[in-house]
Amino acid sequence: MIRICLVAGARPNYIKVAALWKAYKKLRARRPRPPVSLHIVHTGQHYDYLMCRKHFRDLNLPTPAVDLGVGSATHAVQTARIMQRFEKVLLRDRPDLVMVVGDVNSTLACSLVAAKMEIPVAHVEAGLRSYDRTMPEEINRLVTDALSDYLFTSCRDGDHNLIREGHDRKRIFFVGNVMVDTLLSWLPKANVSSIGKKLGLEKPYALLTLHRPSNVDKGSELSQIVRDLAEIQKNIPVVFPVHPRTAARMKKGSVLREIRDLTDFHMVPPLGYLDFISLMKGARFVMTDSGGIQEETTVLGVPCLTLRPNTERPVTITQGTNTLVGRNGDLVGLVRRILNRKPLKKHRIPPLWDGKSADRIFAVLSRKVGF
Ligand code: UD1
Repeated sequence: MIRICLVAGARPNYIKVAALWKAYKKLRARRPRPPVSLHIVHTGQHYDYLMCRKHFRDLNLPTPAVDLGVGSATHAVQTARIMQRFEKVLLRDRPDLVMVVGDVNSTLACSLVAAKMEIPVAHVEAGLRSYDRTMPEEINRLVTDALSDYLFTSCRDGDHNLIREGHDRKRIFFVGNVMVDTLLSWLPKANVSSIGKKLGLEKPYALLTLHRPSNVDKGSELSQIVRDLAEIQKNIPVVFPVHPRTAARMKKGSVLREIRDLTDFHMVPPLGYLDFISLMKGARFVMTDSGGIQEETTVLGVPCLTLRPNTERPVTITQGTNTLVGRNGDLVGLVRRILNRKPLKKHRIPPLWDGKSADRIFAVLSRKVGF
C-alpha cells in the first residue's frame, strides 16, 4: 500500500486538492483492494469559516486527517510553525509521498520538511514563474520546485521554465490544470447558485478581487486603484468580495471612507467556491490580482483585467482572456473598451485544460511509484 500525504494550506489550495481527491476516489472505486491511500493534512494557514471550511463543504472535501492549526503570522513564523508541526506528522506517519499544490507558504514549508526526511515530493502546478521575487509566492515556487521529485506542470511554459533552471526533464510531467478539473466538475452546481439574486445584482456587473500585498499593503497603490474604481462604478456596478487581508488594510487608511461614498460599489464578505464561480461566470468582466482567477476566467471566456505588472500564468494572456494592467496602466480605458463591446482579444482554452489533469497525475504516479 502506497501512502500519500496531500497538503492543503490556504484557499487556492483547496480547489486543487479537490481535483486530486476526486481522482483518488475514482481510482479507489475502480479497484476492489486499492493499492494507494491518500490523507489530507491541513496546515491551518487559512482558518476562518469563509476562507476555509465553507470551501471544504462546497467542494465535498473530507475533514482533514490532521489539522496543524498554525494560523496567521509573519512569513518566517508561519513557515517555521508549519515545519515544526508537519515534521511531527511525518515522523509518526512516514508516508511514501508528500503531495503539495500551488505556491503558498504551506507548499514551501511542507516540501522542505519532506525533502529533508528523504520522503519524495510531488509538486502540482510546478514551473510557474513571474520572475518577480518581490512576490512571496515566487520564492515559494522556486524552492518547492528545487526540492520536488515529481514536477506536474499545467502549461508548456512551466516545462520550459523548469528546463531552463536545469531540472531533469525526466521529472517534469505536463498534465494540464487541476483548477480547471474542479471548475468543470462544479460548474453545473455553480450555475444554480442564487448568489446574484441574494446580492440584488442585475446584469451587467463587474467582479473585483484584491489581496496581493503589492496592491493592498501600500496605501498609495490602494488609493490609485480606488480612484479608478470610483470612475468604473459610474458605468457598471462593481461587486467586491473582500479578502481579510484587504479588509484589515482598508480599516487603517482613509480608503474605506472614500469607498463608502461610492454608489455602485458593493463590498461583500469572502464567498464560497460555488457562489464565486457563479458570479464570475455572469460577470461582464473581472478585475483581480489573484493567480487562479486568471485561469478560471480564461476557461469561462470572461475578460479578465489583472491588476499586476506581471503574471506567472502567461498562457492566460497569449491564449486566454487575460490582460495585464500594471501600475499606471489604463484600467479605466480598458474597461471602457469592454463596455463598448470591443473585444480585447481572441481566446482559446490552453492545451490539456480539459478536466482530466488529476487523473493524469495519478496515472503518472501509478507508473512511477508503482501502485
Ligand atoms: C495567501 C497566499 C496567497 C494566496 C492567498 C489566497 C502565501 C504567501 N500567500 O495569502 O498566495 O493567493 O492566500 O487567499 O502563502 N486571514 C484571516 N483569516 C484567514 C486567513 C487569513 O483573517 O482564514 C487574514 C489574517 O489577518 C492574515 C491575512 O489575512 O494576516 C493574510 O493571510 P495569509 O494567509 O498570511 O496570506 P494571504 O494574503 O491570504
